Amino acid sequence: MTRKLSGGKLVVASHNKGKVREIRDLLGPFGLDVVSASDLGLPEPEETGTSFRENAELKARAAAERAGLPSLSDDSGLCVAALDGAPGIYSARWALVGAGEQKDFTLAMDRIERELAATQTSDVRAHFICGLALAWPDGHVDYFEGRVNGALTFPPRGTQGFGYDPIFIAEGEAITFGEMEPERKHAMSHRADAFRQLVEACLGG
Ligand code: IMP
Repeated sequence: MTRKLSGGKLVVASHNKGKVREIRDLLGPFGLDVVSASDLGLPEPEETGTSFRENAELKARAAAERAGLPSLSDDSGLCVAALDGAPGIYSARWALVGAGEQKDFTLAMDRIERELAATQTSDVRAHFICGLALAWPDGHVDYFEGRVNGALTFPPRGTQGFGYDPIFIAEGEAITFGEMEPERKHAMSHRADAFRQLVEACLGG
């Protein structure tokens, strides 16, 4: 049984400013007081899972235990069909520069373009996945997964959004997520899909 969340504080178990901003926008209307893991000074656990679900659950559990509050995590990524689903759960890691924490998505997008060119394919299908885990201090966890299908385009276009947005065109659209107004992206994204499920199960009725 999924557990209901009725107001109060919710920790977003993420240090990614882009994600925290999107999650605040999406949960704004539900009267939740959204605080981020970085606001609370919580450490970032290592993402040792082998699926979006495992990583989402381990991040949410760690934050809920530390903060003593319900905690929501998002593990998401871009899966490229012709690259057997890569970068997938390694989407953030493909952008790491050197050995540090610094990320550069221009490098990650270049790498996708290079690896696609090396396969000599014309298949540019890709999808974003968003796994959402809502964990409670007593160990209860609910999980939801959303998806948006689309295609890749090079060179990258647009300065809105974050991460791989400039190379992704959602099905039925002509512009990239990077060129799209945030409200429009929020209505159709993998995160929107996962949040619709979360809201229905945990915040509705
Ligand atoms: P993680 O879930 O923190 O491991 O990182 C997910 C990574 O996937 C992000 O750093 C982005 O690179 C990518 N990603 C996830 N969602 C989106 C999105 O909506 N737009 C662009 N990139 C995304």
